[in-house]
Amino acid sequence: MLRGGRSPTDPDGGSTAGATGDALAPAGRDGRPTAGITAYQVGSIDIGHRGPIAEIVRTTGMFGEHEIAIALELFDATYGLPSGGADTGDAGEGSDYEFLGLFDPTGVLLGYACFGPTPGTDRGYDLYWIAVTPAAQGGGGGTFLIGEVERRLRGRNARLVLAETSSRAAYAPTRAFYVARGYIEGARVRDFYGPADDRVMFTKRLQPAPRIRGSRGGEAR
Ligand SMILES: CC(C)(COP(=O)(O)OP(=O)(O)OC[C@H]1O[C@@H](n2cnc3c(N)ncnc32)[C@H](O)[C@@H]1OP(=O)(O)O)[C@@H](O)C(=O)NCCC(=O)NCCS
Repeated sequence: MLRGGRSPTDPDGGSTAGATGDALAPAGRDGRPTAGITAYQVGSIDIGHRGPIAEIVRTTGMFGEHEIAIALELFDATYGLPSGGADTGDAGEGSDYEFLGLFDPTGVLLGYACFGPTPGTDRGYDLYWIAVTPAAQGGGGGTFLIGEVERRLRGRNARLVLAETSSRAAYAPTRAFYVARGYIEGARVRDFYGPADDRVMFTKRLQPAPRIRGSRGGEAR
């Protein structure tokens, strides 16, 4: 169960997922411990979260070093380079990427999403990254976080969200996550990432598809 709220640190209107104990903090699935979280919050990310984000991405075990480097490149492009580099100090203003953090009630970062407008599209957005720390996975945090991303995008009149992932078996739970959240497989590029490793492109419409006069059946663009 979610209840709206506004995080004092989050100008875009952060929310709190109220959990009545078991609802959002069930016993760990597959024997994994949960973090015993009773409520989630979303809020702003800042440059100090670079280390925790690297740790979250690494500990999911789902990403290779090359992908971890890309995740951090997106972070650095948004918040400035780590020590020695130019810190833009503008908390991502003007960047093509936007970060949203998932926090526990004490302010510990549990996960994050990175998204941004898809160049050359009419109100299309890419969900570049979403990750939740393993101890909190399966506790509803990812659902809350992606819901908040979508809520913010709807507020900007966004039309379509695109999330890409791999067809490998290891990503079956990730694909199930997207499908259960209303995403459909919009396209697939066979063997894109490697042999028998397809690029699966999930999309979700944030607005009803327009009716095209005279069209019969089929999905309007
Ligand atoms: C995908 C991910 C962000 C979902 O976050 P989450 O907090 O585990 O998700 P929730 O608890 O809200 O939802 C759980 C649902 O997601 C799916 N899921 C995906 N990974 C899961 C995991 N490790 N543990 C439990 N459920 C998982 C299940 O289908 C589950 O569905 P159900 O609720 O119908 O049973 C998170 O599991 C994760 O970080 N995975 C590794 C990184 C990744 O694959 N990122 C996406 C590609 S960039």
